[in-house]
Amino acid sequence: MNETVKNAIDLIKKKTTINPAIAVTLGSGLGGLADNIKAEAVIRYEDIPGFPASTVSGHAGEFVIGHLKEVPVIAMKGRFHYYEGYPMQKVVLPTRVISALGVKTLIVSNAAGGVNTSYSPGDLMVIKDHINQMGDHPLIGPNDEKIGPRFPDMSAAYDKRMMDMAHEEAKAMGLQLQSGVYAATTGPTYETPAEVRMFRTLGADAVGMSTVPEVIAASHAGVQVLGISCISNAAAGILDQPLSHEEVIETTERVKTNFTELVTRIILRMETE
Ligand code: 6GU
Repeated sequence: MNETVKNAIDLIKKKTTINPAIAVTLGSGLGGLADNIKAEAVIRYEDIPGFPASTVSGHAGEFVIGHLKEVPVIAMKGRFHYYEGYPMQKVVLPTRVISALGVKTLIVSNAAGGVNTSYSPGDLMVIKDHINQMGDHPLIGPNDEKIGPRFPDMSAAYDKRMMDMAHEEAKAMGLQLQSGVYAATTGPTYETPAEVRMFRTLGADAVGMSTVPEVIAASHAGVQVLGISCISNAAAGILDQPLSHEEVIETTERVKTNFTELVTRIILRMETE
């Protein structure tokens, strides 16, 4: 375990005796779920030695540790994005922390552009697989065999049972839930229309600027993953209109109630099965 991860674990253990069973990464505009957690400890990333000082748009990223209903959880509110200039090692620090804490299940969320033309803004999508188009990789460098193998298998990075569960819970809610492939770019630009056509040809259904590094790090460590994208807008070239961060935030605001209910249901199901 590296020094920074160990510091974070020590700090968390000083503040709470809760042993979270499930971790949840809350993407842009989807942080509302953390408000439903009966928090025992809130630890800002910037207060952990070795963690970067701040995250995107000045919002303090933080761990929220407590109970969602009766389930012990750790939420990661805010993440470190590669486009902010952090090296991959920093991008995956929170993931390494939850894994070192003993968490075996990670639910990761994001806002993403719809590449699949049948998707509408506001759709939720289970990530069934991904394409790493970031041109970098969080596992480059010496491998810690205590965490996982040098050459990790990625054929089941997204857990089949959790995907099935997500679809069952969505059905029970009467909620349409897409299932698709998420492609990750570095950002910070959105794609050009030609790039979006390329991603569609490559088999992507959605495109975003996060998640893939965290999923790789989690999967390497043997953590089972469920990914959920909120399709916040159509990717470039589909509609005759420019893309904006405002649209992304507006859409995530609109669907956050459904998102929160879906994830809460999945967490309760995971705990009882
Ligand atoms: Cl269209 N592209 C990327 N890379 N990230 C996004 C997005 C699009 N919409 C929301 N996030």
